[in-house]
Amino acid sequence: MFWQRKDLLGLRYLTPEEINLILDTAGPMKEIIGRKIKKTPTLRGRSMVTLFYENSTRTRSSFDLAGKFLSADTVGLSSSSSSVAKGESLRDTGLTLNAMGVDVVVIRHPASGAAEYLAKCIPAAVINAGDGTHEHPTQALLDMYTIREKKGSLTGLKVVIIGDLLHSRVARSNIWGLTKMGAEVRVAGPMTLIPQDIKAMGVKVYTKVEEALAGADVVNVLRIQMERQQQGLFPSIREYSRLYGINQSRLELTAADAIVLHPGPMNRGVEIDPQIAYGNRSVITEQVTNGVAVRMALLYLLTGGEYHAISN
Ligand code: CP
Repeated sequence: MFWQRKDLLGLRYLTPEEINLILDTAGPMKEIIGRKIKKTPTLRGRSMVTLFYENSTRTRSSFDLAGKFLSADTVGLSSSSSSVAKGESLRDTGLTLNAMGVDVVVIRHPASGAAEYLAKCIPAAVINAGDGTHEHPTQALLDMYTIREKKGSLTGLKVVIIGDLLHSRVARSNIWGLTKMGAEVRVAGPMTLIPQDIKAMGVKVYTKVEEALAGADVVNVLRIQMERQQQGLFPSIREYSRLYGINQSRLELTAADAIVLHPGPMNRGVEIDPQIAYGNRSVITEQVTNGVAVRMALLYLLTGGEYHAISN
């Protein structure tokens, strides 16, 4: 199968076959990350710019490393250190980068739809690295890769997503992706942090976290996004932690081999107990490694690579 899209804007738009193609391509990429010399000539002569209008540790640095491991030329731009700070528009910034011959632009932006807008403005491939509360497709792909690696398949798994679903682009991308791949997706959190129309995305909604966790195979704990909270959506951090935080007694409600994910950055002791975050059910560190592999796969596919044709 060939990748046929110019951009990666969201999992809402992908078919299960396309999702499988990305996850299958990430496997050989992960093997490269495990080598002592993490360098292949696959994308030599190709270029990638990361254009970040919001802070990031994982996504930005993993795209940068993904490009470098494949020998692409990489440039990192942030809104505070570029001409965006002088008022340059997203369209003009994109056209400027495009005129320099860039092949892939990876964008993170606080406005939902920004990646799609940029993709319409420029012929270069655009990858959405998180747009407002809309989607964060590469995070969901690395989550799905990690789950598939641990569980063998996504089909039929009971996956619980807990927390601030209202503001979470990670949750939205996971829901689109996991439901397409045949998983049962349960969401849980305070009613004030669950969008009213979320059932239409094919999920089961729970307000009691214990009911959602019963027999679950996977628990994906969302970050409480302090920076996006309006007043009054939940009483207090301590109350949130008491009612919805993932701790040992709640984890015991899940399947005996259930795994715990968190997209990071974590508010340790708020949405997740530190003992769980660093315990033997946690796959949070593996998520970070897999993030590089999935992003290598995407750079490869969006620049014209075929699965099974990766050169060493
Ligand atoms: N999960 C995630 O997007 O992390 P960063 O904000 O550090 O990129």
